[in-house]
Amino acid sequence: MSELGIIGGTGLTTLANLEIINREIVQTPYGEPSGPVTHGKLAGKKVLFLPRHGYGHTIPPHKVNYRANIWALKDAGVENVIAVAAVGGIRADMVPERLVVPDQIVDYTWSRVNTFFEEGLNHVTHIDFSEPYCEALRQRLIQSAHALGFEISDKGTYAATQGPRLETAAEINRLERDGCDIVGMTGMPEAALAKELDLCYASLAVVANLAAGRSEEALTMERIEAYLSSGMQKVRELLAKVITEL
Ligand code: HPA
Repeated sequence: MSELGIIGGTGLTTLANLEIINREIVQTPYGEPSGPVTHGKLAGKKVLFLPRHGYGHTIPPHKVNYRANIWALKDAGVENVIAVAAVGGIRADMVPERLVVPDQIVDYTWSRVNTFFEEGLNHVTHIDFSEPYCEALRQRLIQSAHALGFEISDKGTYAATQGPRLETAAEINRLERDGCDIVGMTGMPEAALAKELDLCYASLAVVANLAAGRSEEALTMERIEAYLSSGMQKVRELLAKVITEL
């Protein structure tokens, strides 16, 4: 089996339980990924780790070079990618620290480079994106969470917003009417690019906050990061479990 690729999100720029073997600076035809790819071992198995926002969490969602990140993992021979993401909770049960493995996406992003298929084509390519995530990997995540006794939502529609600002309360109401359960800024075009390169890609989302207008508390990055730190501890354990089952 090929190595597992892990894309870290907000709150997961490092994997404390990762034994680092080396860091590799990768150039791709699409420019540089968010940082060097870390080759390491998690629970004794080889993994590749790449933090989406850079190791110092300096790259905002709309500036991430999604193509370079996905290409770098594919080029390294990865077949399975787990993308960790911090999200806001829209549906009533999507409360802070909740783990979610989304099964659908609505894309509200704009002006992001969102395909590998745009130049030098023999013919125009439209991938089938009816099921945006890899079902086999989704099920692995869900089963491993159950084995650890973690509560996890096994379905959910992810709203991908442009950012970097958080949403208005009215926008969140609209996303809810559209059928969205959670909201984040990085799910797209990442998922579509992974599908274009035939990767088995699933998202592991951690609710960091109630979405805009759903809480009395003001939404600040400090608060989001504080909620995230305990959710991400579960993510680390879950990733170590999943990798032994793959
Ligand atoms: N909205 C968008 N992205 C997010 C949020 C949110 O409320 N929380 C964490 N990432």
